[in-house]
Order: sequence, then C-alpha cells, then structure tokens
Amino acid sequence: MRRILVTGGAGFIGSHFIRRLLREHPAYDIINIDKLTYAGNLDNLRDVEDYPRYQFVQGDICDRDLVDELMGQADAIVHFAAETHVDRSLLAADAFIQTDVAGTYTLLCAARDHRLQRFLHVSTDEVYGDVPQGHRSRESDPFQPRSPYAASKAGGDLMCGAFYQTYGLPLVIARPANNVGPHQHPEKMVPLFVTNALQDQPLPLYGDGLQERDWLYVEDDCQALDLLLHEGRPGEAYNIGADNHRHNVRVAEAILDLLGKPRDLIRHVEDRPGHDRRYALDWSKLRAMGWSPAHDFDQALARTVAWYRDNEWWWRRVRSGAYQDYYQQQYGWRLAQAARPARGEGQR
Ligand code: NAD
Ligand code: DAU
Repeated sequence: MRRILVTGGAGFIGSHFIRRLLREHPAYDIINIDKLTYAGNLDNLRDVEDYPRYQFVQGDICDRDLVDELMGQADAIVHFAAETHVDRSLLAADAFIQTDVAGTYTLLCAARDHRLQRFLHVSTDEVYGDVPQGHRSRESDPFQPRSPYAASKAGGDLMCGAFYQTYGLPLVIARPANNVGPHQHPEKMVPLFVTNALQDQPLPLYGDGLQERDWLYVEDDCQALDLLLHEGRPGEAYNIGADNHRHNVRVAEAILDLLGKPRDLIRHVEDRPGHDRRYALDWSKLRAMGWSPAHDFDQALARTVAWYRDNEWWWRRVRSGAYQDYYQQQYGWRLAQAARPARGEGQR
C-alpha cells in the first residue's frame, strides 16, 4: 500500500490526516479529492501544498468518471468527504443525501471495480442516536439516527457494510466522537464560541446547555485512523472516543475562562430541534489495539483556543461573505429572542 486517495482532505479532520500521512509515512503518495464546498479550505493545507508526494484534485465524489480515474492510481482510500453540520441538515438535507449517501456509494462501486486493497470509511458516533445515561454505544448497537445529517451518515455506513458482505471489499469503518482542534469551521460549537468570544460577541448556547459530548483532539483521532488504515480488520467497525465528556455549558465556560472573557457572554437560545442530549462511546475495541488518546479535555481545549487566538487571519476569512448570511439565518432570531425580557420582567 503506497498510494492513498483521501476524500474531503481540505476539510477539518481530512487536512490533519493528510499532514499526518505525509509526516509518518515517507513512502506514501497522497491524492486529495475535494469539491471545496463552503467547508473546504485550501488554507488548511498551505504548509504541504508544494510537497512532491501530495496532489490536490478539485472534484466531486459523486462524479464517477473522475473517481474511476483517481481510483486507478490508488491502492487505498480514506473517505472523509461529507456534508457535516447538523444545523445545516435541519435547514436543507439534499446535499447531505447526495454526498454522504450517493457519493459514498459511488466510491464503493469504484473501489470494488478497481480492487482497492483497503477502504477506510469515516462514519460518526451520531449513527447511534441519543445515548441514555449509564450506557455507552458499542459497535454492535443498532443505529437510531435522529437528524438528517446522522441519517445520511448512517446510510453511507450501512452501504459500506453491504459492500463488505456482498463483494468482499476490504472495508473498515471508524466512528469517531466530536473532534476539536485547529482548522475546524466556525459553524461548529467550539470554534464558533471561541471566535465569538474573541470578538466579545454572545455565545449562543442551545437550550439548557446540559447536552453532553465526548471531545476528542483531532490529532488523536488521526492517529487512531492511521492505525485502523493499517491494522483494522476488514468488515469491522471501530468507535473512537476519548472519555473527555463535558456538558456544553462547561465547554462554553472553559472557553471564556481561557480567554479571560466574562461568563455573561453565554446566551441560552432556542434549542436545536431534535437535539441529541448525549453521545458516549465504548471504545474498548480500539483500546485493545493499543491506542489511547494523548490529550485530555483541558489540553485539547487549551491547544484549540490558543490556535484560534493566534490565527485570526484564518477564521476572519472563513467568517466573511456567505458565512454571515448563514449566521444571520441560524442565530439572528435566536439571539434577538434571548435578548428580549421574559414576560413580566422589566415591567415593574
Ligand atoms: P468538514 O465539513 O470540515 O470537511 C468536509 C470536506 O468534504 C470539505 O473539505 C468539503 O469541501 C468536502 N466535500 C463535501 N462534499 C464533497 C463532495 N461531494 N465531493 C468532494 N468533497 C466534498 O468535515 P470534518 O469535520 O473534517 O469531518 C470529516 C468526516 O469525519 C466526515 O465524514 C464527518 O461525518 C466525520 N466526522 C466528523 C466529526 C467531527 O467532530 N468533525 C466527528 C465524527 C465523524
Ligand atoms: O459526534 C460527532 C459529530 O460531531 C460529527 O459527526 C459532526 O460532523 C460534527 O459536526 C459534530 O456534531 P455536533 O452536532 O455534536 O457538533 P456541533 O459543534 O454542531 O454541536 C456540539 C454541541 O453544541 C451540540 O450539543 C449542539 C451544541 N451547540 C452547537 C452550536 C453550533 C450549541 O449549543 N450552540 C451552537 O451554536
């Protein structure tokens, strides 16, 4: 295995993964196919763009001719490309179904026909749905996706399983928890809150803020994915967690504390419809392979906050243009509603 096709490598996790492959595997050549949607950003790969072992191709994973051409040059594929933001999937899910389901199917067909040696599919812990207190999702748990994003990812994940069973495609599935780190698009909670706080803007916390996520540092995730690319057993799925569980309100407070900003920047706003309260993974299968995360919650958050503080040029560019329209649509009315005095208040 020497030539690796990476999909969605201009996004958050994919760009970290490409950098890791170039660093850790000096014999590998990497092709990155990315459509450069609003979430794709070549600034994420500026430091490696001239490497002779790296090639970027702008294109859509739904384009079978292009995918065939690239698969013909590859031994293995790592598939990150997806529409990834839950809130956007609540506004319109068409692109999610197209990329996360149909695009994954296109890649699977081509990988089968070109007899690739390995297909690593990057799924998500959201396929398990809302996890009750006291439980941790195991790889064998049934899927109960509750957002259009999660349902689309579940569709892609199930199609991968079908291609392993039907065609014997040497396929491994990864289901990571919430990643945190540099280069994450500021539509997601952590970078949104950090960049708002840096501008003394309110932090729009959905509902009571007691939803729980497990925060996995992106480089730890990439290390686990690297391991699965090389040592994952075909036909198997692997959860990637970190045991860094925090309620959202604690994450918001920690960000403000790290930046020396007042906690009253937090605004409880109207909740995300169908909001999953809790994700929690049992990742003992991966632990048994010798992997464990290097960053605890405080380290992961501190590194992330420091990067955004030091790289204003990066996030100011992302937050300009169409981002402002999205921000208004998603948060304009929520923040206006939160600023209004509750009935009875202010009338005395
Ligand atoms: P991201 O949104 O930052 O990046 C997605 C990338 O895919 C972008 O560069 C985009 O341009 C590209 N893309 C989208 N549609 C495409 C298409 N049709 N053809 C080619 N490229 C296309 O995403 P991310 O946060 O880096 O997530 C990467 C993968 O990991 C996704 O599959 C996501 O579901 C999964 N995942 C993410 C997290 C997380 O916390 N970020 C956790 C678990 C799993
Ligand atoms: O769990 C893995 C998933 O993590 C990935 O599959 C997704 O691609 C990724 O986007 C992420 O999904 P979440 O919905 O968990 O991430 P997000 O950053 O959007 O939200 C994290 C939590 O913060 C969630 O409980 C919702 C809340 N939130 C989010 C935003 C954007 C807020 O309270 N306010 C916000 O403005």
